[in-house]
Amino acid sequence: MSETRLQPEHSVSDAEQQQETEIRSNVFSHSAGGPDGLPGVLNLAELEERVRGIIPKGAFDFIASGAGDEWTLGENRRAFTRREILPRVYAGVDQVDVSTHLLGIDLATPIIAAPTMGHGLVHADAEFGAIKGLARANVLFTLSCLSSRTLEDVAQQATGPLWFQLYQQDDDGITRELVQRAAAAGYKAIVQTVDADVAGNREANLRNQFTSPPSLALANFASAGGVHRRKKLSWADLELVQKYSDLPVIPKGIQHPEDAAQAVRLGAAAIWISNHGARQLDGVPSAFTVLPTVHNAVAGRVPIILDGGVRRGQDVFKALALGASAVAIGRPVLYGLALGGADGVAEVFRRLTGELSNVMQLAGVSSLAGITPSALL
Ligand SMILES: Cc1cc2nc3c(=O)[nH]c(=O)nc-3n(C[C@H](O)[C@H](O)[C@H](O)COP(=O)(O)O)c2cc1C
Repeated sequence: MSETRLQPEHSVSDAEQQQETEIRSNVFSHSAGGPDGLPGVLNLAELEERVRGIIPKGAFDFIASGAGDEWTLGENRRAFTRREILPRVYAGVDQVDVSTHLLGIDLATPIIAAPTMGHGLVHADAEFGAIKGLARANVLFTLSCLSSRTLEDVAQQATGPLWFQLYQQDDDGITRELVQRAAAAGYKAIVQTVDADVAGNREANLRNQFTSPPSLALANFASAGGVHRRKKLSWADLELVQKYSDLPVIPKGIQHPEDAAQAVRLGAAAIWISNHGARQLDGVPSAFTVLPTVHNAVAGRVPIILDGGVRRGQDVFKALALGASAVAIGRPVLYGLALGGADGVAEVFRRLTGELSNVMQLAGVSSLAGITPSALL
């Protein structure tokens, strides 16, 4: 099931609804706050396992699963293990600096939040909880156009930087309106998702007969009569979306180096390498695997963002070493929100950034600019 095939008018059965309510009250009891937003959890793999036990199976599988045989889902993790870090010693590093600058935005960490629908599925505060947590950790949030809060309400509550993710709509007028609403609300870039013209084959959702609960209402489309994704994007669509505002446009879902090169030629402000968290085409390589060739094709002209399976500080380090300027995480944000609300989201980024700092120090690198290909075997 794709994100857009979830129609808000489909409701869950009473029993499932009741189960959801019960489990949610359990989940939300974790969200009261406190110094540790992720109690009893040491890392992002453990976080996923904790959340598996506290949200309904249909919702968990909707978030966690991938398409087809989930080969790519596994590959998104495995690929990082095929490169090793070669540390330098006597490097005199006593402090590391993980701050960076991305398309005019100062960031405390090179780890940003990927766009995901589903915030309302895991927590009553939905995107408001996420942005509260992200602002605490000074992290850039990419709002999915399929959010359960309107882009204007999110912008109004946000104190940190925001990008807006766009699924281009069949109706150009609706696409233009979305882009212009995002620009007016203060979003700093449009992230145009290009790898989801049609839905991936997500069998877990079929097996679970997962249908959209009311908490997944698609707030930005209230007056548009639903979501009608454009089914066959072409390069003209990149140029079209660029014309709708002055905002930089970042294609998300690039995997082929020639597509990356063409996107840069047409004015893409950055290249976001992604296989949509392995939810679309199974059998494709991980973003980390294609990073070196895409990096070659881009040749430093624009920044590269990478997502898919980033769960450890060393994954971030390896991606930056091979040319990414930033990495994004999707599922862990939803899991942090489910377990700890805003505190949980803040803690996800604190932990991952903390791991990155630790890896850098042990590898003998003091700044992100110092993480180069020679740091890897
Ligand atoms: C539950 C869920 C919903 C998603 N919704 C969107 C979306 O609305 N738009 C989009 O461009 N990508 C969406 N994605 C893909 C993410 O932006 C991102 O590419 C992916 O989650 C990264 O992989 P990771 O979850 O392993 O970190 C979604 C992913 C998940 C898991």
